[in-house]
Amino acid sequence: MERTLAIIKPDAVERNLTGEILRRIEEEGLKIVALKMVRISKREAEGFYDVHRERPFFDSLTDYMSSGPIVVAVLQGEGAIERWRNLMGATDPAKANPDTIRGTFGLSIEKNSVHGSDSPQSAAYEIPYFFSHLELVNP
Ligand code: RTP
Ligand code: MG
Repeated sequence: MERTLAIIKPDAVERNLTGEILRRIEEEGLKIVALKMVRISKREAEGFYDVHRERPFFDSLTDYMSSGPIVVAVLQGEGAIERWRNLMGATDPAKANPDTIRGTFGLSIEKNSVHGSDSPQSAAYEIPYFFSHLELVNP
């Protein structure tokens, strides 16, 4: 059983899309094993996206991710990392399949509504960034 970190980003929370996005996750058959709403600071966003520190979009991305509440969740299931990435769609909503979350709701390459871990290594960094083991339930 694999686990992955999902984030509903500020643009989606602000437009009341939290319920619809969680519905799509449940419809896919992934189990939500942890869930909360938080607002992170600029510094906390920088720590979360540390791998992107040298990218030109790092400052804008971390401003954006700290601009409003986000919903963070841990999803569990066979192949959870890839299944959640497939449900999310391509990074740029203009290039994402229209059936995907980013294809349906994404506003721009930055304000693309959701995040997902891209490997077991990134999930192992990202899940404990937001949740202690006491917050992860056994479904
Ligand atoms: P994520 O990490 O959020 O799940 O997205 P991703 O793997 O599809 O894309 P990644 O390359 O990891 O980029 C992280 C986030 O940075 C913003 N971004 N802005 N302005 C730009 O060119 C640009 N490129 C990426 C997006 O919010 C992207 O999801
Ligand atoms: Mg990424």
